[in-house]
Amino acid sequence: MKRIFSGIKPSGRLHIGNYLGAIKNWLTLQDEYQCVWGIVDYHAITVPYDLIELEERVIDCAASYIAAGLDPEKSILMLQSQVKEHTELTWILNTITPIPWLERVPTFKDKAKQFSASLNMGLLDYPVLMAADIILYKADAVPVGEDQLPHLELTRKIVRRFNSTFGQIFPEPKSIISSGALIKGLDGKSKMGKSLENCIYLDETPEEIWKKLSTAVTDPQRIRRNDIGNPEVCNLFSLHKLFSTKDQINYVNNGCKTADIGCLDCKRILSDNISNELAPIRENLIKLKNNNDYLRDVLNEGIKKSKEIARQTMYEVYDKIGVTYKFLK
Ligand code: TRP
Repeated sequence: MKRIFSGIKPSGRLHIGNYLGAIKNWLTLQDEYQCVWGIVDYHAITVPYDLIELEERVIDCAASYIAAGLDPEKSILMLQSQVKEHTELTWILNTITPIPWLERVPTFKDKAKQFSASLNMGLLDYPVLMAADIILYKADAVPVGEDQLPHLELTRKIVRRFNSTFGQIFPEPKSIISSGALIKGLDGKSKMGKSLENCIYLDETPEEIWKKLSTAVTDPQRIRRNDIGNPEVCNLFSLHKLFSTKDQINYVNNGCKTADIGCLDCKRILSDNISNELAPIRENLIKLKNNNDYLRDVLNEGIKKSKEIARQTMYEVYDKIGVTYKFLK
């Protein structure tokens, strides 16, 4: 069976951007591939974080994975920091990765601006840790959002360099692009998740969802109720495309362009659809968050299985790079 690795950074509670852009797409892959779904906490600590919150985030992430339908019987759910081979392999890959490759990564350039006063090596090295995550399991494919493509391209470059320097052991992983594309926050500007107010979380009630949507940014040109709108520039219309039926999408598309319906009418339909789709996830999530024993068992089992694969790969790597010293035996 071919293998897949993907992961989410536990840097906040999971929201519909994580669900649509990642987890929902992962569900369909569980039967075709052997999947490893990571909670990549060592990526999360490359920016300032709260120590207490980190553990809550990890628990929320594990619970969200399962609540949304990732099945621990089929897939491996793991926590990156607990499988030391991830960081060990990162070090080895560091020795063959030219610094300019990393300086050119778009997310690094963004972070370099954002954290100019506290720019750390972890941010520069982020893509190498990500490459290690993937190739440690010799993953054939990686489902990711479009924003991650430069990282994946870099992983392939590192793989080619490793294989040509030391000998062929790693496959070049291909990307599987999430159909949910990139979900913008309710402010209509940045990627969902950049600030608290621009997210809809997986465990929000219908009332909370409505409250957030009712103030969400729509087509900025449509100011008064009777102005005609342009759905193609409206962030909420892109959410309709992901949550609503064909008929509803046509209805709001035409209604907005002719000003037959107002933004609130459009938001009401969207709010109901999001609430309905999230209802079972929310219910599962509430149950799971009260069952830390179960989550602990699932993660420990996943960590154990990941380690078995990771050890195997590392023995091959040690051999290739010449650190299986015979004189010690
Ligand atoms: N960088 C990814 C993101 O921000 C998270 C990630 C870390 C990842 N390691 C990975 C994704 C390995 C896919 C495979 O979304």
